[in-house]
Parts: sequence; C-alpha cells; structure tokens
Amino acid sequence: TDKQSTDLKTIAARIKSGSITRIVALTGAGISTAAGIPDFRSPTSGLYAKLAPLRLPYPEAIFTISYFTHTPEPFYALARARHPGNLKPTLSHAFLALLAKKGLLQFCFTQNIDGLECDAGVPSEKTLWCHGNWKNQHCHKCHAEYPDELMKKAVRDGEVPYCLDEGCKGAVKPDVVFFGQPLPAEYEEKEKLVADADLMLVMGTSLKVAPVSQLPRKVREGVPRILINRERSGDLGNRPDDVCILGACDDGVKELAEELGWTEELEEFWKT
Ligand code: OAD
Repeated sequence: TDKQSTDLKTIAARIKSGSITRIVALTGAGISTAAGIPDFRSPTSGLYAKLAPLRLPYPEAIFTISYFTHTPEPFYALARARHPGNLKPTLSHAFLALLAKKGLLQFCFTQNIDGLECDAGVPSEKTLWCHGNWKNQHCHKCHAEYPDELMKKAVRDGEVPYCLDEGCKGAVKPDVVFFGQPLPAEYEEKEKLVADADLMLVMGTSLKVAPVSQLPRKVREGVPRILINRERSGDLGNRPDDVCILGACDDGVKELAEELGWTEELEEFWKT
C-alpha cells in the first residue's frame, strides 16, 4: 500500500549487505498447520471451531487453569490429536534455522509447543517456548513430577492422569502454559532483545494472546517488521516500515528467500 515506505526487496538488500544482522522472529500455530497440526482460531479448521461436542463454557476453557482444576477431561480428550508425533518441520521452520545458521537470528519467540523449530535446527539457546512444552509434566496441584511413560499412556488412551500421591490426587498437566498461568521466567529478560532487533519477522500468529501479542510493538520505530500470515494481525501494517506478505507462511518464506537469493539453499537445507 502507498503509505508503506519499505518493501521486501529493500529489506532483503539490507540483509544481504550486512546492515541487518539481528533478526527477532515471533511465530505461532500458522507455521505448523502445513505440518498437520490445525491452528486455534481459523474459522472452520481451527481447534476452537471444533469444540462444540465437548460443551465447554468457552473455547479457551480447554487451556484455562481454573477450568482444568475441576474439569481436566476435555484437555485429555484432545491431547492425542494435538500431538500426532513424527511431524516434519515446514519450510518456514527451516527458514528460521537457516537464519540461525547464517548468524542472522538474534532470537525466536514461539508460541508453539510442537518443538518443530528445534527439530528444524533452530538452536535451543536462541528459542523461547513462550507457552511451555510437552517435555515434562507435573501435578497441577502439588507440582510433583509425573513419569513420562505414564503420561504417554494417558495421552494415548485419552484419560486424565492423576497425581501418584494418594493424599493429593490432583490432575497432572504437561508443562504447557495455560491461560491464568505465568509465562516462563526468562520471558521478561528475553523480551528486551526485541528493542535491540534490526528486523522483526512475525509468522503464523493471530496475535490475540497477551503478552506475546505485545512483542511487535516493542520493536523500535524505524525498524522494519515483516508479517507473513494468511491475514493481517496485531498492528502489523500500521507502521511505514512494515511489510505484510499475506498468504501461506511457506509461500511468503519462499518469496523472501527468493529476494535473498537463497531459494536453492533453503530447499536443500529443508530436505536434509
Ligand atoms: P491462532 O490460531 O490464533 O492464529 C494462527 C494464525 O495463523 C491465524 O492468523 C491464521 O490465519 C494463520 N495461519 C494458519 N495457517 C497458516 C498458514 N499455513 N500460512 C499462513 N498463515 C496461517 O494461533 P496463535 O496465534 O499461535 O495458547 O495462538 C496463540 C495462542 O493461542 C496459542 O499459543 C495457544 C492459543 O490459545 C495457549 O493455549 C496458551
């Protein structure tokens, strides 16, 4: 649009010339839908559109700690479908890993819990899983650890695992961040990296969930922000230095890679 003072070509040229070196990425469910995990808020395909049979008071209740406390069953009814296993990172994940390999990725904030950025090769010290992970699990009540094997079985069977302490018997929850729970302790410190970024890349998120949704606003004025997403999200597109590539994430990434002259390298990197 005309109020935009920058475009993808200009940004790509600045990356190639070495004047952009501190890229901060922010990702969401949209970068993993092509890997086979539906997102949350897309009108018919998203998880929240499919919850009617579970009779939740509101869709996000399934990930809300106060609700889980008394009704953990809906979460486990869907846990298996949300974690099919053996997923392959998408081209978008590979692009982030390629940025890291080239020393251009300052940091990646992801709201996803599928671990695909890690599988693609983004170093874990450059990643913050803002909404937690599925690697460990604890009783939501007494916080006692719970064995991996029993957790796997519970997810497989769609049954709620309960604390092994007879006196507690609270429902066990993976260490994913539910609504009403704090983000990982590192969040506040890592957030500062955004103000130091010389490019922000926002991919596959509706930016409907705080505080992560506020990260793009922390980018300094005059620093370009690229949105690659099916739809506009947050305030991306409101600043003169914003570039919105609307469409599938993997297509947007291809477009950016093309401008950078990285097309073949990216394809090759993704395959191996
Ligand atoms: P959403 O489902 O809210 O948004 C996904 C965004 O990606 C939407 O704007 C889609 O249009 C877009 N999208 C989907 N597939 C795409 C594709 N292949 N290419 C391009 N765009 C695509 O997911 P998030 O923003 O990640 O948190 O949601 C944030 C948080 O809300 C999640 O981490 C989760 C959820 O409730 C918790 O449960 C705490």
